Amino acid sequence: MSQSKAPHSKESLLASRVGELVANDFRTAHLFSQHGIDFCCGGGISLERAIKRFDADETSVIDALMALETQGEKLQGLEQLPLPDLLNYIESTHHTFVREKAPLLVEYSQKMVRAHGENHAEIKPLAGWIHALVEDLMPHLMKEERILFPAILGLHNQVEMQNCFGHIGNPINAMQYEHDDALQIFEKISELTNGFVPPAHACTTWRVCYATLAEFEADLKQHIYLENNILFPKALALTA
Ligand SMILES: [Fe+2]
Ligand SMILES: [Fe+2]
Repeated sequence: MSQSKAPHSKESLLASRVGELVANDFRTAHLFSQHGIDFCCGGGISLERAIKRFDADETSVIDALMALETQGEKLQGLEQLPLPDLLNYIESTHHTFVREKAPLLVEYSQKMVRAHGENHAEIKPLAGWIHALVEDLMPHLMKEERILFPAILGLHNQVEMQNCFGHIGNPINAMQYEHDDALQIFEKISELTNGFVPPAHACTTWRVCYATLAEFEADLKQHIYLENNILFPKALALTA
């Protein structure tokens, strides 16, 4: 599923060999694992046969592969954006998303502690990690918006700016450390929630909380990818 090729149809995906799909786009490896498809031993057979052999749900697998492909095309488009537009995109899409969803996650997890915290051991630590994540992310967004992004824009516009951090690489390193911290917290959350899969007895708040966490993780990974792999290298190249 190379991002440079034309989009796949359902039929062409089903006819592709599993190993070929993974070789062309490593993100499919994680997707196949999630759907119970063994892409190592089963890599030489077509996706259609693999879905049958590993008893996976064809519609879910195809939908997820197509969503990945769309995401890949979108990222390719973002790579071409001029720096000021990329900064605007990150703020208006990803920073807005975090600000909208983070308070909801805190609210849901606190409700869950009140209703189920005594009887289910995973709930209190989950609420603790969600709190830690939000406490880390909010100042992170502010540092990017108030310090790093204006400095990157200044470099782009060749405007001399007063700053207290020296080379732009310093705040970029600091932001990358904070990205790693946020992803590590999400790994703990993913372990505690069994990959955001609610137990059969879960109430509505519990289910909504896990669904929001899954959405939050996907957005955060894309947000961090954009900053680490597209924005920061472009900013550093301006100082080379
Ligand atoms: Fe950001
Ligand atoms: Fe960031």
